[in-house]
Amino acid sequence: MGMHKDCERVLLTEEQIRTRVKEVASQVDRDYRGKNPLVVGILKGSIIFYADFIRCLSMPVELDFMAVSSYGSGSVSSGKLRIKKDLDRDVKGRDVIVVEDIIDSGFTLANLKLLLTERGAASVRIATLLNKADRREYDVAPDYNCFDIENEFVIGYGLDYNEQYRHLPYIGVLKRSVYEK
Ligand code: PRP
Repeated sequence: MGMHKDCERVLLTEEQIRTRVKEVASQVDRDYRGKNPLVVGILKGSIIFYADFIRCLSMPVELDFMAVSSYGSGSVSSGKLRIKKDLDRDVKGRDVIVVEDIIDSGFTLANLKLLLTERGAASVRIATLLNKADRREYDVAPDYNCFDIENEFVIGYGLDYNEQYRHLPYIGVLKRSVYEK
């Protein structure tokens, strides 16, 4: 399959992603041996990474999902995170692994970490596919990170622009002409 016409270039190939996701997930697998973590996917961007990630884990895991709104992200005066879909499971006493596709300003994860800790999680760690460290405005860092990337508009492997491109199996840089028109 060729590159999508709206892509300027491929940033991370399927092969690069597959290899690195396996490496990072193996690390998580070792760190959580003998535990029973609750793996929380943040909808929707994380779904592809999530599906590949959990299949590398050998301990018993429970799956759960949240949908949150990053509205207000970037503005320091913004309030708390808006929860669009909450967890089904109680996190009290649980080891929670939050799975994200990307950390940008850090607004979403800084707030989520706080929320899950307030709810009594025994531990909260973050696994992310992509990390845009230069964009950080909130004090949060991933415990497990697959790739550090520059500040470019990336799509594919779960990431979207206007809900498009999530299904692309690689990560591409979106052409400027697409979002500047
Ligand atoms: C993205 C991403 C994170 C958040 C990161 O979600 O999945 O949740 O933004 O940005 P932050 O670090 O500045 O908070 P988005 O709101 O685009 O929703 P989606 O996952 O459904 O695409």
